[in-house]
Amino acid sequence: MNAPQSVTIVGAGVMGRGIAYVSAVSGARTTLVDLDADQLEAAVRRIDLDVASGVERGKIDDEVAARTRELLSTTTDLAAGCAGADLVIEAVVERMDVKHQVLRTAEAAAADDAVLATNTSAMSITEIAACLDDPSRGVGMHFFNPVPKMKLCELVRGLQTSPDTMDRAEAAAQAFGKQTVRVEDLPGFATSRINALIGNEAMRMLEERVASPADIDTAIKLGLNHPMGPLEMGDLVGWDTRLDILEYLGDTLGDRFKPTNLHRRMVAAGRLGRKSGHGVHRYDDEGNRLDG
Ligand SMILES: NC(=O)c1ccc[n+]([C@@H]2O[C@H](COP(=O)([O-])OP(=O)(O)OC[C@H]3O[C@@H](n4cnc5c(N)ncnc54)[C@H](O)[C@@H]3O)[C@@H](O)[C@H]2O)c1
Repeated sequence: MNAPQSVTIVGAGVMGRGIAYVSAVSGARTTLVDLDADQLEAAVRRIDLDVASGVERGKIDDEVAARTRELLSTTTDLAAGCAGADLVIEAVVERMDVKHQVLRTAEAAAADDAVLATNTSAMSITEIAACLDDPSRGVGMHFFNPVPKMKLCELVRGLQTSPDTMDRAEAAAQAFGKQTVRVEDLPGFATSRINALIGNEAMRMLEERVASPADIDTAIKLGLNHPMGPLEMGDLVGWDTRLDILEYLGDTLGDRFKPTNLHRRMVAAGRLGRKSGHGVHRYDDEGNRLDG
């Protein structure tokens, strides 16, 4: 199965910028789309840093670095950005109506046989793809944060996803340097279901003042051998995105996923995590921890 030649990523936030990076590094012409021009500018700055860090870490050479920058373009025009793409990956906010609106436009503008993928963390691929004229081309390609470093892409098969779409999504993920697993379309798939539950329990522990935020993170890192503490992880994911995920999982899988009041208040206060400079912990403009 061939790797995609022309890839459009919709949503230039935490995830979209990382997916655009691995796509352009793979040699695909890559267009990054967002409603918000400032997000696109910030994404290009982030991708430039990732390119520099890729060279520094010996992951890419100077030639690939230069090619990556050439292959990447940005636009605020969704239809123009999807024109002729053979793979579209949406990474917009975790809301069904927004994903439907984006994918309908993408389907009309992209190549006739384009794969139309969603990077949803938890929502039903079948329901997302139901908005398409041809839902057999809809598939979940669930990347992980930070995309340039995380090795997995979870491929999620909706009820109507065709075997060819699964194979093409797998070929794309592998061209992007990811190992794949195939999972069925159940809320939260194999990963977010566990991750959201651990993060939610950590938030409850914070509400109950079991320990300080730093000590909860350290306990889970050193005691359970997790690479990151669950509160740092929530800061990385974004508490707004995590809230949407928990609400969806609460509705579909039960009350154990119900978000805490503390979590809701943090989002209301704009304490979204690294992307806003303050979540549970505080960060500078480049995402470095300020409080420990
Ligand atoms: N943050 C994570 O760790 C993580 C991990 C895996 C999957 N995801 C999933 O990826 C998706 C994106 O999450 P994120 O964390 O990158 O969100 P984010 O809030 O950082 O970025 C979302 C971007 O989408 C843009 N957007 C919103 N509506 C749009 C539209 N109609 N057209 C174009 N752009 C639009 C916003 O301007 C914003 O830049 C969500 O479905 C989320 O569940 C997130």
